[in-house]
Amino acid sequence: MSQPAYKSVTMTLDGTNKSLTLPLVSGTLGPQVADIRKLYNELGVFTYDPGYGGTAACDSKITYIDGDEGILLYRGYPIAQLAEQSDFVEVAYLLMHGELPSPAELAEFTTGVTRHTMLHEQIRNFLNGFRRDAHPMAVMCGVVGALAAFYHDSLDIHDPEVRRISAFRLIAKVPTIAAWAYKYALGQPFIYPRNDLSYAANFLHMLNSVPAEPYEVSPVLARAMDRILVLHADHEQNASTSTVRLAGSTGANPFACIAAGIAALWGPAHGGANEAVLKMLAEIGHVDNIPAFIAKVKDKNSDVKLMGFGHRVYKNFDPRAQILKQSCDEVLKELGVNDEPLLPLAMELERIALTDEYFISRKLYPNVDFYSGIILKAMGIPTSMFTVIFAVARTVGWVSQWKEMMEDPTQRIGRPRQVYTGATTRDYVKLDARA
Ligand code: SDX
Repeated sequence: MSQPAYKSVTMTLDGTNKSLTLPLVSGTLGPQVADIRKLYNELGVFTYDPGYGGTAACDSKITYIDGDEGILLYRGYPIAQLAEQSDFVEVAYLLMHGELPSPAELAEFTTGVTRHTMLHEQIRNFLNGFRRDAHPMAVMCGVVGALAAFYHDSLDIHDPEVRRISAFRLIAKVPTIAAWAYKYALGQPFIYPRNDLSYAANFLHMLNSVPAEPYEVSPVLARAMDRILVLHADHEQNASTSTVRLAGSTGANPFACIAAGIAALWGPAHGGANEAVLKMLAEIGHVDNIPAFIAKVKDKNSDVKLMGFGHRVYKNFDPRAQILKQSCDEVLKELGVNDEPLLPLAMELERIALTDEYFISRKLYPNVDFYSGIILKAMGIPTSMFTVIFAVARTVGWVSQWKEMMEDPTQRIGRPRQVYTGATTRDYVKLDARA
């Protein structure tokens, strides 16, 4: 949304002559922001923005979203071009370093990631401590956070070399932890990473291979997984990325920060939505049941939401959902999956929702989670692993955003304020004096 670049905005306390002119800051793209850092000291008031719907918590060069135009850029490159022409490791380099790598830079970065895919053997003990039916996201939270216990040599976050090696360790080890969480749930042996495979192919190898027989990773599956990872890599200051930044602002080590991001991503309103979409589609069961389900969604007393729809920023289509919808067909065809009842059900649900005034008036469109689950299910990935795969991809975005924040010389601890609506000061009443 282009608008003239204003220089300032003035706030005046009504009934007084007290006013403050706030500078308006322009980014390279997107709305201007009013710099309110002097507001409390000058006028004695805070701003109030529950959920931070209208608040810029930082400046960043990494990702840009235009929710009205359905635009998503990673370091200025449109997501559709990267999904089509790039791959996840190259996108990881781009998000972390700001430019597409030269062949030599890409080779060095790929080696850096590849050479850190193995886990300390003691980490098996962490996994063996969980119940077999533990949700894999619980395992991810626990084991990623526990990595800090194994890398005492790399917790000095003010050392750029420590930040570099920690980034490699996180990006490289998270897929291994994810795959081992899955194998542990199955009761199958952990599969070691293979350094001769690409990132996505190695992830599928660790998920699906068994020692008893050879396993050849399908190039179609590897390409589909790589595209899903690219599409989920970063997304501005979403809830989990903001969690990582806030944790990092205290000086917490990167393993703890990424574990905090995983915890935030788990929620069904965020990264847990892809798992919730499959549960919703299974609950609907048949296109004939769609109208009754839509009626439940519209009933405010039901608290039922159309999972995979809506977004805080996208008030038009989510470009990632569009790309996934296109590749849904392609992946199902290439996998020879032609009896996937969920796809026609999802497409009919989308068609009905997009013609219904309730959803149109609220600008509720399919988001990235609506189609990702269908592709992952077609690829043989169990629903419980969907958000884990989102976390594997978003680790690259979290690490990039954490790195950007740590390199910002003006960075300070995050500490939001509040509107206090509790009791005013009162004296303690002894127990025997209470009713
Ligand atoms: C992700 O932030 C990111 O970038 C996230 C993400 C990323 O890559 O990091 O894009 C990934 O989290 C995608 C979103 C996945 N979540 C879901 O699909 C869950 C279902 N969606 C909703 O929970 C909701 O849309 C949110 C949480 C995504 C956004 O919530 P908002 O911005 O707070 O929207 P809102 O609650 O203000 O909704 C406005 C209205 C409300 O109705 P009214 O009170 O005006 O009558 O729309 C309704 C809401 O009740 N509404 C929905 C709805 N989403 C919003 N009604 C039915 N179904 C829905 N999905």
